[in-house]
Amino acid sequence: MKSPRRSKAKPGKRQIGPPSTQRSDSSRSGSKKKANGPSARRPTDPRPGKPGKSSGRTKRDRPPEDKPSLWVGAALPGLEDLLKSELDGRFRDNVTHVPHTRRGECHFLYGGRSRALLSLRLCHVLSLRRDFRVARPRTLLSPEHLAAIVQDLKKVMEMTPSDRFSGLRLDAAGSDSPTMQRLGTQVAEKLSMSFENETGDLVLALRPGEDGWEVLSRVGNRPLGTRTWRKVDYRGSLSGTVAAALVELSSPAPGDRFLNLMCGSGSILIERLKWGRAGGIVGVDNIAAALDAAKQNSTAAGMRDQIQLMQADTRNLPFAEGSFDRLCVDLPWGQSIGSRETNISLYRDTFIEAHRICRRRGKFVVLTQDHRSLDALEGVVERGWRLLGERSFTQRGFRPRCRVYERTDS
Ligand SMILES: C[S@@+](CC[C@H](N)C(=O)[O-])C[C@H]1O[C@@H](n2cnc3c(N)ncnc32)[C@H](O)[C@@H]1O
Repeated sequence: MKSPRRSKAKPGKRQIGPPSTQRSDSSRSGSKKKANGPSARRPTDPRPGKPGKSSGRTKRDRPPEDKPSLWVGAALPGLEDLLKSELDGRFRDNVTHVPHTRRGECHFLYGGRSRALLSLRLCHVLSLRRDFRVARPRTLLSPEHLAAIVQDLKKVMEMTPSDRFSGLRLDAAGSDSPTMQRLGTQVAEKLSMSFENETGDLVLALRPGEDGWEVLSRVGNRPLGTRTWRKVDYRGSLSGTVAAALVELSSPAPGDRFLNLMCGSGSILIERLKWGRAGGIVGVDNIAAALDAAKQNSTAAGMRDQIQLMQADTRNLPFAEGSFDRLCVDLPWGQSIGSRETNISLYRDTFIEAHRICRRRGKFVVLTQDHRSLDALEGVVERGWRLLGERSFTQRGFRPRCRVYERTDS
């Protein structure tokens, strides 16, 4: 198994890099392309094979159907490299990254079928980007610019035909100014929908770009990262994209015996199976209501049969030594669940038990916002875990830390 790739590491503390084991939905052949600016042309050779002759291409790497468009994928700041890695791993032949300066985002030209992008697991919000070389938004009211904006919005609406949109909303500084109001009203009119600037769920974002204004048309009536399997929002549950990120950081492989300690509502378990098959998937929590939430969510995901759920205390688990290849835990942060007072001993005892049931050189992915309790683990960790890397990211005002350990001999 390959270990996670690492970016430039600071001495002592290594940033966890995007994993190299991600599944590929497209051919990985072909040289790596240079990133181009927004005006760059096709990232791949779009020519179809000659009629009547086999092009030699398989279904998986058939030529792109859409003209390349510029997209913006938003991840949580600190997780953008994982999204970039997912794009490369799955759509390499059709993706060209575009340099930009915004944190938490990936900008890319994509020449494949737009709908394939809906399956991105590490993208929180996906938008189609168009750049206008105008100094002020007022100029966007010209018929030509309005037509281009409407065309983009129609394109993103076609990607999710089952979505019903309640109205158009502008996401822009000064969105209640007379110019923005006119823009919103006119665009909405052309789409035969109402302009609902507070509550609309077709979102058009406008922001200053490097050379004018960037206009972003959001895909879907909810952020792309919203999971349809989420039926029960149990206390402290992770977003689907963060759960998917933890799975990636575990360097998953098809035969893994995967254990999610303190599984709560099952987010990590479901995202592990969304990644692909495993040798076994088990979730443990000591609260019946949490396991019930996990049951409902995994049923909604169509995965109930493939996930084993168990009520147990992570300090004393009914598993034999070395039972698992990959372990993952989203520890109580000491806010809505747990307390700072009890976390230190809970973390320590959970680590000791995790060490027992993890196979040698198995991986343990740990997430928490309680930095003090994590740091207090040093003594325990030194005796049996090697820290492979650490990263933090920003989420709703929190800055949780994620560490990846490997079990050593001692
Ligand atoms: C932060 S939540 C996990 C949320 C989960 N990742 C999700 O997305 O729903 C922590 C979970 O740890 C569980 N927990 C706390 N102490 C535990 C213990 N000693 N043994 C097992 N589970 C425990 C709680 O019941 C809670 O569901």
